[in-house]
Amino acid sequence: MAVQRIDKVLAAMGLCSRKEAAGYAKKGAVAVDGVVCRDASRKIDPDQVCLTFNGQPVGYQEHVYLMLHKPLGILSATEDRDQQTVLDLLPGVYRSRGVFPVGRLDKDTSGLLLLTDDGALGHHLTSPKHQVNKVYHAVAEGVLGQADVDAFAHGIKLRDGTQCRPAKLEIRSVSDGKTDVLVTVCEGKYHQVRRMLASRGTPVLTLERLSEGEVVLDSALKPGEWRELTSEEISALRYEI
Ligand code: URA
Repeated sequence: MAVQRIDKVLAAMGLCSRKEAAGYAKKGAVAVDGVVCRDASRKIDPDQVCLTFNGQPVGYQEHVYLMLHKPLGILSATEDRDQQTVLDLLPGVYRSRGVFPVGRLDKDTSGLLLLTDDGALGHHLTSPKHQVNKVYHAVAEGVLGQADVDAFAHGIKLRDGTQCRPAKLEIRSVSDGKTDVLVTVCEGKYHQVRRMLASRGTPVLTLERLSEGEVVLDSALKPGEWRELTSEEISALRYEI
């Protein structure tokens, strides 16, 4: 891991601000390998030394990776003057670390949203080059059938002429003039799933993202809840790119 200033490490862990770290260090609250360190500007490699704050080991991570069960009605943005954003659903320490949503879900879409402060991974996962599969559960107004499955497999042309890559449409059930489907896409065009289904004459009534690559929305998370990704999930995301 990269060498970091102690004040930066403590602030990234949400233990205190960088400014406060200097004061705490002067008072003897910080130790490196058991030896009190009164200089918070000292650089350490958190993987190579044991950093403690008030006697407790500081479990520093260079980056954080989170999954949020995004509720309906919340913006996938880091900040907005008027509306609540997904960052407002997380503890403040993540905002200070510079966590951002990986790609976007519409305000009216719920489900899996990944967030990280790892710019390189975030960029790769959203880059059209990498074609990470995303699975959505949608309920559409109208009846979809095999012709629609074939059209998705061939690649839908949106109403504005935009050509989409081949995608998978699975019909789960049809009732009361509505079709319950799973849609798998490997790109992230604006309102893509809504526009793909609308192009077949079946507007989306509800839309939820279930997975991104190998990472599946944790069924234990209620809308608005989040958790850190496991090391297996992080490795799976890295494998995608
Ligand atoms: N496709 C959409 O139309 N909306 C989303 O939020 C995600 C994919």
